[in-house]
Amino acid sequence: MPAAHLAGNYAPVAEELSAYDLPVTGRVPDALSGWYLRNGPNPHDAASGHWFFGDGMVHGVRLDGGRATSYRNRWVRTKTFTDGAPLRDGEGRLDLAAGVANTHVVRHAGRTLALVESSFPHELHLSGSTPLPAGVCDLDTAGPYDFGGRLTTAMTAHPKTCPTTGEMHFFGYGVEAPYLTYHRADAAGDLVISRPVDVPGPTMLHDFNLTAGHVVFMDLPVVFDLELALAGTMPYRWDDGYGARLGVLRRDDPYGTVRWFGIDPCYVFHPLNAHDDGDRIVVHVMRYAELWRGGPRSGGVTEEAALWRWTLDLAAGTVREEQIDDRSAEFPRVDDRLVGLDSRFGHVTTTGGDGEGGALLRYDLRTGAVTAHEFGPGRFPAEASFAPADDVPGGAGWLLTYVYDAATDRSDLVILDAGDLAAPPVASVHLPVRVPYGFHGNWLADLCSR
Ligand SMILES: [Fe+2]
Repeated sequence: MPAAHLAGNYAPVAEELSAYDLPVTGRVPDALSGWYLRNGPNPHDAASGHWFFGDGMVHGVRLDGGRATSYRNRWVRTKTFTDGAPLRDGEGRLDLAAGVANTHVVRHAGRTLALVESSFPHELHLSGSTPLPAGVCDLDTAGPYDFGGRLTTAMTAHPKTCPTTGEMHFFGYGVEAPYLTYHRADAAGDLVISRPVDVPGPTMLHDFNLTAGHVVFMDLPVVFDLELALAGTMPYRWDDGYGARLGVLRRDDPYGTVRWFGIDPCYVFHPLNAHDDGDRIVVHVMRYAELWRGGPRSGGVTEEAALWRWTLDLAAGTVREEQIDDRSAEFPRVDDRLVGLDSRFGHVTTTGGDGEGGALLRYDLRTGAVTAHEFGPGRFPAEASFAPADDVPGGAGWLLTYVYDAATDRSDLVILDAGDLAAPPVASVHLPVRVPYGFHGNWLADLCSR
């Protein structure tokens, strides 16, 4: 029996494929022109010590002119993939140019970056305004990218681009001090700010929060453990003694003091969004009561998260913590044009139990209403990205996600009307293969030269 993270649709696919003019049920909206890309672990030797460790593979569908013109999947050719390069050399020195680049794929300042939180980004080729070099195909790997030598830490897989300034905010963390470093790239992609942030110990900092005025770090009690590292699995475990805190940095004082707010111990991989509200900061997160007590599980994450709201009162120095929903879900996203702003809507993915199917839920954070799209028995969605229909942030658009069908052992790219989520799909693009369960992706519009 394979380990849970190598079984069923967690198992890697063995081939890289290019397929064209894909069959569609329904109709691809004419307004959708671009690539839907999603990254995930796909160990090339069909073995890895943990779900989070597999080599990154990006699965892309290109939509254009009402058609699904191509599907392509490619491993990210890091030197860990090509040469088996370890994250540390024989003398224990970190090699940030190695790694698996398996968690996210984002675009900023004209670069498409595959990301994992333990190393540098890897830049991918993607056709758009700049023609690809001769002999290079979409999703081929250009190489590690360190912002022209300025980046000296790993980079989170969850950078946040401010929709107002175009700046990309991010951080790096590691097991050696300084454990946490905040970074900011300007709209042109130049890394202009890097500063250490003091935290008590080396914790797993997967994601963070951005508002119009603030950055909010989450220093939570899942702490580095050398024994687990030596055993070859995820080297983090729950620690009752560590405490939990949120660190607030003003964006207009980026080298200033980070102000810490204590909260109840918990873990959060992913926030939904955050925004400023006068003297308050409102943060919506998918919160785990605890994670990895005794060490991580083979399957990755078996604990369950639900939607919570933290309201930080900057005047009173307090945090109000409220559970918003009791449904188990993950992969929260909003319309990316509203990152850091008061987005009314956000959506999450639920996996369902045995014999059931998964669903997407869309929260109306203003009214509390929840709309669901159930995919039916044996059909399981992944993270969904919002693709806008027009230039109105928070307005009309579609949710795009890969859906695995256990009966056919294949996947579809399903396109749903975000404003009418319970309705049948607008389109289902039928892929010739399955897309293994993975992590994060993005809809990248208007890159395709027609
Ligand atoms: Fe993530």
